[in-house]
Amino acid sequence: MRLVFLGAPGAGKGTQAKMLVEQLKIPQISTGDMLRKAVADGTPLGKEAKSYMDKGELVPDSVVIGLIKERLQEPDTENGFILDGFPRNVSQAKELDSLLGDLGKPLDVALVLDVPFEDLMKRLTGRRTCKSCGQMYNIYFSPPKVEGKCDVCGGELYQRADDNEETIKKRLEVYQSSTEPLIEYYRNKGILKVVEGTGDINAIYRKILVQLNPVV
Ligand code: AP5
Repeated sequence: MRLVFLGAPGAGKGTQAKMLVEQLKIPQISTGDMLRKAVADGTPLGKEAKSYMDKGELVPDSVVIGLIKERLQEPDTENGFILDGFPRNVSQAKELDSLLGDLGKPLDVALVLDVPFEDLMKRLTGRRTCKSCGQMYNIYFSPPKVEGKCDVCGGELYQRADDNEETIKKRLEVYQSSTEPLIEYYRNKGILKVVEGTGDINAIYRKILVQLNPVV
């Protein structure tokens, strides 16, 4: 199954993608995670990306397309993948179509998680992630048992640098102007599925599975 997850910052793409990975045994490919790793490793690409990410702007297409091209060559993508955070605009979507067309492996589904904008600020400012195992929490909706510590592995929780109000506002603007047009793009291709992304995380997951059936 070759799937693209669409949705605004904080819509729950990462949360739901991780659940699907367990069930479908295909990798989650998150350009945001790849870029954050490059920033943390201090690579030249990370240094370039950081200036855009800190402002809530998109990193240049050439950078992320290069990352995705390399990642999609890896053998674990043979049976499919979940793209989380890519494509982010129509030109990235066209590049992806051409790349997958060359490989003879077109997308099966583009699934958008639809969440009202007024819910997103609290989700993003409240997000905390474990430095060791990546487990995600939310101090408002799903807090850890002990403040600042991961329930799963005891690791330290951190807040993403771009999860502050000013940067979130910019990310939401960028989503509306650059990424939202992809909904129409994939609807026109006949592969769009829409799932309402508010409420219980497990209930949303079940709705996603219904939408993916019979592809899964
Ligand atoms: P990226 O890392 O992709 O961030 P994003 O799109 O802003 O998405 P998020 O990871 O913030 O949200 P999410 O939808 O995954 O939500 P999550 O599941 O974590 O991008 C970051 C930056 O990298 C970009 O700004 C850009 O600079 C750059 N970048 C990345 N890709 C790029 C590309 N292709 N091109 C150019 N630049 C690129 O959930 C959020 C919180 O909500 C969590 O706390 C979670 O616990 C909670 N939550 C989840 N579901 C629910 C629920 N149902 N109810 C209550 N709380 C919930």
